[in-house]
Amino acid sequence: MLPTPIVPNPDYNLVYEPAEDSFLFLDLFEQLHNEEYFTKTTPSKKFSTVLEIGTGTGIISTFISTNKLIPNAYHIASDINLNALQTTKNTFENTRTTKDAYLDTIRCNLTDPFRLNEIDVLIFNPPYVPSESIPLVPSIQDDTNDDWLDLALVGGTDGMMITNKVLDSLDSTLSVNGEAYILFCARNNHSKVVTEFLKSHINFKVENVIARKCGWEELAIYRFIRQ
Ligand SMILES: C[S@@+](CC[C@H](N)C(=O)[O-])C[C@H]1O[C@@H](n2cnc3c(N)ncnc32)[C@H](O)[C@@H]1O
Repeated sequence: MLPTPIVPNPDYNLVYEPAEDSFLFLDLFEQLHNEEYFTKTTPSKKFSTVLEIGTGTGIISTFISTNKLIPNAYHIASDINLNALQTTKNTFENTRTTKDAYLDTIRCNLTDPFRLNEIDVLIFNPPYVPSESIPLVPSIQDDTNDDWLDLALVGGTDGMMITNKVLDSLDSTLSVNGEAYILFCARNNHSKVVTEFLKSHINFKVENVIARKCGWEELAIYRFIRQ
Protein backbone atom coordinates (compact mmCIF):
# COMPACT_ATOMS: atom_id res chain seq x y z
CA MET A 1 0.00 0.00 0.00
CA LEU A 2 1.29 3.44 -0.91
CA PRO A 3 1.78 5.95 1.93
CA THR A 4 -1.07 8.38 2.61
CA PRO A 5 0.01 12.05 2.66
CA ILE A 6 0.70 13.72 5.98
CA VAL A 7 -1.89 16.47 6.25
CA PRO A 8 -0.77 19.07 8.83
CA ASN A 9 -3.27 20.43 11.30
CA PRO A 10 -5.32 22.88 9.22
CA ASP A 11 -8.36 24.71 10.49
CA TYR A 12 -11.14 22.45 9.26
CA ASN A 13 -13.56 25.36 9.55
CA LEU A 14 -11.75 26.85 6.57
CA VAL A 15 -10.57 23.86 4.53
CA TYR A 16 -12.44 20.69 3.52
CA GLU A 17 -11.39 17.78 5.72
CA PRO A 18 -10.45 14.68 3.69
CA ALA A 19 -13.33 12.22 3.76
CA GLU A 20 -14.58 9.09 1.98
CA ASP A 21 -14.68 10.95 -1.36
CA SER A 22 -11.03 12.03 -1.04
CA PHE A 23 -9.97 8.49 -0.06
CA LEU A 24 -11.89 7.01 -3.00
CA PHE A 25 -9.57 9.03 -5.29
CA LEU A 26 -6.50 7.70 -3.43
CA ASP A 27 -7.75 4.14 -3.85
CA LEU A 28 -8.52 4.72 -7.52
CA PHE A 29 -5.08 6.14 -8.33
CA GLU A 30 -3.35 3.37 -6.41
CA GLN A 31 -5.42 0.83 -8.37
CA LEU A 32 -4.53 2.52 -11.69
CA HIS A 33 -0.87 2.49 -10.64
CA ASN A 34 -1.03 -1.24 -9.82
CA GLU A 35 -2.59 -1.87 -13.23
CA GLU A 36 0.20 0.26 -14.80
CA TYR A 37 -2.59 2.22 -16.48
CA PHE A 38 -0.66 5.49 -16.90
CA THR A 39 2.58 3.76 -17.92
CA LYS A 40 0.64 2.06 -20.70
CA THR A 41 -1.37 5.09 -21.81
CA THR A 42 1.30 7.82 -21.57
CA PRO A 43 3.87 7.77 -24.40
CA SER A 44 7.31 7.55 -22.73
CA LYS A 45 8.57 10.96 -23.91
CA LYS A 46 5.33 12.79 -23.26
CA PHE A 47 5.16 15.35 -20.48
CA SER A 48 1.68 15.29 -18.90
CA THR A 49 0.00 18.33 -17.39
CA VAL A 50 -2.09 17.14 -14.45
CA LEU A 51 -4.57 19.57 -12.90
CA GLU A 52 -6.58 18.94 -9.76
CA ILE A 53 -9.42 21.44 -9.40
CA GLY A 54 -10.45 22.10 -5.79
CA THR A 55 -7.42 20.63 -4.01
CA GLY A 56 -8.64 21.27 -0.41
CA THR A 57 -5.85 19.97 1.88
CA GLY A 58 -3.97 18.73 -1.18
CA ILE A 59 -4.28 15.10 -0.14
CA ILE A 60 -5.06 13.83 -3.66
CA SER A 61 -2.49 15.85 -5.60
CA THR A 62 0.18 15.14 -2.98
CA PHE A 63 -0.58 11.41 -3.10
CA ILE A 64 -0.30 11.29 -6.89
CA SER A 65 2.72 13.57 -7.22
CA THR A 66 4.88 12.29 -4.34
CA ASN A 67 4.24 8.65 -5.26
CA LYS A 68 4.90 9.53 -8.93
CA LEU A 69 1.80 7.71 -10.11
CA ILE A 70 1.71 9.48 -13.49
CA PRO A 71 4.96 9.35 -15.49
CA ASN A 72 6.61 12.68 -16.45
CA ALA A 73 3.84 14.69 -14.86
CA TYR A 74 3.73 18.41 -14.16
CA HIS A 75 1.25 18.72 -11.26
CA ILE A 76 -0.91 21.76 -10.60
CA ALA A 77 -3.40 22.02 -7.71
CA SER A 78 -6.00 24.77 -7.84
CA ASP A 79 -8.67 26.04 -5.47
CA ILE A 80 -10.87 29.08 -5.09
CA ASN A 81 -9.95 29.10 -1.37
CA LEU A 82 -6.54 30.51 -0.46
CA ASN A 83 -6.55 28.60 2.86
CA ALA A 84 -6.77 25.39 0.84
CA LEU A 85 -3.73 26.32 -1.24
CA GLN A 86 -1.65 27.16 1.84
CA THR A 87 -2.66 23.83 3.37
CA THR A 88 -1.84 22.03 0.12
CA LYS A 89 1.68 23.46 0.15
CA ASN A 90 2.15 22.30 3.75
CA THR A 91 0.77 18.83 3.00
CA PHE A 92 3.08 18.49 0.03
CA GLU A 93 6.19 19.72 1.90
CA ASN A 94 5.40 17.50 4.92
CA THR A 95 4.97 14.45 2.73
CA ARG A 96 7.57 14.57 0.01
CA THR A 97 10.74 12.67 0.68
CA THR A 98 12.67 13.64 -2.44
CA LYS A 99 13.35 16.97 -4.10
CA ASP A 100 12.32 15.76 -7.54
CA ALA A 101 8.57 15.81 -6.78
CA TYR A 102 6.78 19.03 -7.78
CA LEU A 103 3.37 20.51 -7.12
CA ASP A 104 2.41 24.02 -8.19
CA THR A 105 -0.61 25.76 -6.70
CA ILE A 106 -2.88 28.38 -8.23
CA ARG A 107 -5.88 30.24 -6.87
CA CYS A 108 -8.54 30.35 -9.55
CA ASN A 109 -12.08 29.50 -10.50
CA LEU A 110 -12.25 26.02 -12.06
CA THR A 111 -10.12 26.01 -15.25
CA ASP A 112 -10.48 29.73 -16.07
CA PRO A 113 -6.78 30.67 -16.49
CA PHE A 114 -5.73 27.65 -18.52
CA ARG A 115 -5.18 27.67 -22.25
CA LEU A 116 -7.40 25.61 -24.53
CA ASN A 117 -6.70 21.87 -24.70
CA GLU A 118 -3.80 22.07 -22.26
CA ILE A 119 -4.73 19.54 -19.56
CA ASP A 120 -3.79 15.87 -19.96
CA VAL A 121 -5.27 14.60 -16.70
CA LEU A 122 -8.00 16.53 -14.89
CA ILE A 123 -9.09 15.51 -11.38
CA PHE A 124 -12.09 16.93 -9.56
CA ASN A 125 -13.77 16.03 -6.29
CA PRO A 126 -16.39 18.78 -6.57
CA PRO A 127 -18.82 20.37 -4.15
CA TYR A 128 -21.62 17.90 -4.93
CA VAL A 129 -24.24 18.16 -2.18
CA PRO A 130 -27.61 19.41 -3.54
CA SER A 131 -28.55 22.84 -2.18
CA GLU A 132 -30.84 25.76 -2.95
CA SER A 133 -27.94 28.03 -3.81
CA ILE A 134 -24.16 28.37 -3.84
CA PRO A 135 -22.59 31.06 -1.62
CA LEU A 136 -20.60 33.90 -3.15
CA VAL A 137 -16.83 33.59 -2.72
CA PRO A 138 -15.87 35.46 0.50
CA SER A 139 -13.03 37.96 0.51
CA ILE A 140 -9.59 36.32 0.83
CA GLN A 141 -9.00 37.99 4.20
CA ASP A 142 -12.28 36.71 5.62
CA ASP A 143 -11.06 33.59 7.35
CA THR A 144 -13.92 33.63 9.83
CA ASN A 145 -16.48 33.05 7.10
CA ASP A 146 -18.50 29.81 7.16
CA ASP A 147 -18.99 30.13 3.41
CA TRP A 148 -15.57 28.57 2.69
CA LEU A 149 -16.89 25.22 3.92
CA ASP A 150 -20.19 25.62 2.09
CA LEU A 151 -18.24 26.35 -1.10
CA ALA A 152 -16.43 23.05 -0.59
CA LEU A 153 -19.63 21.10 -0.08
CA VAL A 154 -22.66 22.46 -1.84
CA GLY A 155 -23.34 22.25 -5.55
CA GLY A 156 -26.73 23.94 -6.04
CA THR A 157 -29.52 22.19 -7.99
CA ASP A 158 -28.95 18.40 -7.95
CA GLY A 159 -25.48 19.23 -6.57
CA MET A 160 -24.46 19.66 -10.21
CA MET A 161 -24.06 23.40 -10.81
CA ILE A 162 -20.27 23.43 -10.40
CA THR A 163 -19.64 20.03 -11.99
CA ASN A 164 -21.77 20.98 -15.01
CA LYS A 165 -19.52 23.96 -15.69
CA VAL A 166 -16.51 21.64 -15.81
CA LEU A 167 -18.34 19.13 -18.01
CA ASP A 168 -19.54 21.84 -20.38
CA SER A 169 -15.98 23.03 -21.00
CA LEU A 170 -14.30 19.61 -20.95
CA ASP A 171 -13.85 19.43 -24.72
CA SER A 172 -11.86 22.67 -24.72
CA THR A 173 -10.01 21.95 -21.45
CA LEU A 174 -8.59 18.51 -22.21
CA SER A 175 -5.68 17.89 -24.56
CA VAL A 176 -6.05 15.58 -27.57
CA ASN A 177 -5.46 12.47 -25.46
CA GLY A 178 -6.68 14.04 -22.25
CA GLU A 179 -8.91 12.47 -19.64
CA ALA A 180 -10.85 13.63 -16.60
CA TYR A 181 -11.69 11.88 -13.32
CA ILE A 182 -14.77 13.39 -11.68
CA LEU A 183 -16.66 12.25 -8.59
CA PHE A 184 -20.44 12.08 -8.27
CA CYS A 185 -22.83 11.07 -5.51
CA ALA A 186 -26.11 9.23 -6.14
CA ARG A 187 -28.14 12.43 -5.67
CA ASN A 188 -26.34 13.93 -8.69
CA ASN A 189 -28.24 11.39 -10.91
CA HIS A 190 -24.93 10.52 -12.53
CA SER A 191 -26.29 7.96 -15.01
CA LYS A 192 -28.56 10.65 -16.47
CA VAL A 193 -25.73 13.20 -16.43
CA VAL A 194 -23.47 10.82 -18.35
CA THR A 195 -26.19 10.00 -20.91
CA GLU A 196 -26.81 13.72 -21.53
CA PHE A 197 -23.06 14.42 -21.73
CA LEU A 198 -22.57 11.72 -24.36
CA LYS A 199 -25.42 13.08 -26.49
CA SER A 200 -23.56 16.37 -26.89
CA HIS A 201 -20.01 14.93 -26.83
CA ILE A 202 -20.02 12.07 -29.32
CA ASN A 203 -16.20 12.13 -29.40
CA PHE A 204 -16.03 11.04 -25.73
CA LYS A 205 -16.21 7.74 -23.90
CA VAL A 206 -17.30 7.71 -20.24
CA GLU A 207 -16.72 4.88 -17.78
CA ASN A 208 -17.34 4.33 -14.10
CA VAL A 209 -13.88 3.44 -12.77
CA ILE A 210 -14.67 3.02 -9.07
CA ALA A 211 -17.75 3.18 -6.84
CA ARG A 212 -18.34 2.79 -3.13
CA LYS A 213 -21.21 2.89 -0.67
CA CYS A 214 -20.21 5.05 2.29
CA GLY A 215 -22.97 4.88 4.91
CA TRP A 216 -26.04 6.37 3.23
CA GLU A 217 -23.94 8.01 0.53
CA GLU A 218 -23.05 6.28 -2.75
CA LEU A 219 -20.01 7.68 -4.48
CA ALA A 220 -18.72 7.00 -7.99
CA ILE A 221 -15.80 8.33 -10.00
CA TYR A 222 -16.12 8.49 -13.78
CA ARG A 223 -13.41 8.71 -16.39
CA PHE A 224 -14.20 11.04 -19.32
CA ILE A 225 -11.88 10.35 -22.24
CA ARG A 226 -11.81 11.13 -25.92
CA GLN A 227 -12.24 8.13 -28.19
C1 LIG B 1 -15.30 18.40 -1.85
S1 LIG B 1 -13.93 19.53 -1.63
C2 LIG B 1 -12.59 18.46 -2.16
C3 LIG B 1 -11.25 18.80 -1.52
C4 LIG B 1 -10.11 17.81 -1.82
N1 LIG B 1 -9.89 17.69 -3.25
C5 LIG B 1 -10.43 16.46 -1.24
O1 LIG B 1 -10.83 15.57 -2.01
O2 LIG B 1 -10.28 16.28 -0.02
C6 LIG B 1 -14.16 20.65 -3.00
C7 LIG B 1 -13.06 21.72 -3.16
O3 LIG B 1 -13.37 22.51 -4.32
C8 LIG B 1 -13.10 23.88 -4.03
N2 LIG B 1 -13.93 24.70 -4.93
C9 LIG B 1 -15.25 24.97 -4.84
N3 LIG B 1 -15.66 25.74 -5.85
C10 LIG B 1 -14.56 25.96 -6.63
C11 LIG B 1 -14.33 26.69 -7.83
N4 LIG B 1 -15.33 27.35 -8.45
N5 LIG B 1 -13.09 26.70 -8.36
C12 LIG B 1 -12.07 26.04 -7.73
N6 LIG B 1 -12.22 25.34 -6.59
C13 LIG B 1 -13.45 25.29 -6.04
C14 LIG B 1 -13.45 24.04 -2.56
O4 LIG B 1 -12.83 25.17 -1.99
C15 LIG B 1 -12.94 22.70 -1.99
O5 LIG B 1 -11.60 22.79 -1.57
